[in-house]
Amino acid sequence: MSEFSYFQTRGWIEVVVGSMYSGKTEELIRRVRRAQFAKLQVQVFKPVIDNRYRAKEVTSHNQNTVDAMPLNNIEEIWDHLNPKTRVVGIDEGQFFSAEIVNIVQDLADRGLRVIIAGLDTDWKGQPFEPMPTLMAIAENVTKQHAVCMRCGAPASRTQKIAGGNSQIEVGATESYEARCREHFVPRVDSRHEDKSEQMTEANP
Ligand code: ADP
Ligand code: TMP
Ligand code: MG
Repeated sequence: MSEFSYFQTRGWIEVVVGSMYSGKTEELIRRVRRAQFAKLQVQVFKPVIDNRYRAKEVTSHNQNTVDAMPLNNIEEIWDHLNPKTRVVGIDEGQFFSAEIVNIVQDLADRGLRVIIAGLDTDWKGQPFEPMPTLMAIAENVTKQHAVCMRCGAPASRTQKIAGGNSQIEVGATESYEARCREHFVPRVDSRHEDKSEQMTEANP
């Protein structure tokens, strides 16, 4: 089962990981909506750096949205947490500092259900902290897959196709695409690869 019962009264931590476009944000929104149907008080947070769509919403690549509070750092969560909140959602967990680990442990110890979505690996294919540590301490981990843009296989990696060398660079389809292990090239200069290899209808 990918989701715990929302009737459970004790706190716990759920983590949703995978490559870009694997449906992490959609899954976070789905779980949040179900908790809202159960009439539980829910709050969603995201790092302020994720400015791709609206500032006060979490938005999936297919434009599904839910209201969210942007945070400059994870410690700010204490300034905004409503005492009635039972479920906390956090998107783009990879952009927060390692302190997120202590904070979500604290929230779960207080009896809250915490759902964190984020990238497990960066464009180099390396673990993208703090998500791997959050996976280790979570009660429940869901690893999702996108569709490889080269061959259509399940994609576990994110290929950088434009931009610089830093680990953190906000972007979407202009900079990143989903790839399977076979077609993932962990280099920034992979954007110079032969574009004729691109998947087409005739060459799936
Ligand atoms: P994530 O947060 O993991 O990046 P989202 O939940 O925001 O993913 O978006 C998932 C949606 O992205 C899919 O439902 C689909 O509409 C779209 N999408 C775009 N490219 C791909 C791809 N290569 N594989 C799967 N879905 C894709
Ligand atoms: P997404 O997983 O919801 O699509 O968003 C991932 C965000 O992370 C997006 O803004 C691009 C960014 N990103 C990095 O900063 N570094 C990386 O190595 C990768 C793969 C993505
Ligand atoms: Mg997302």
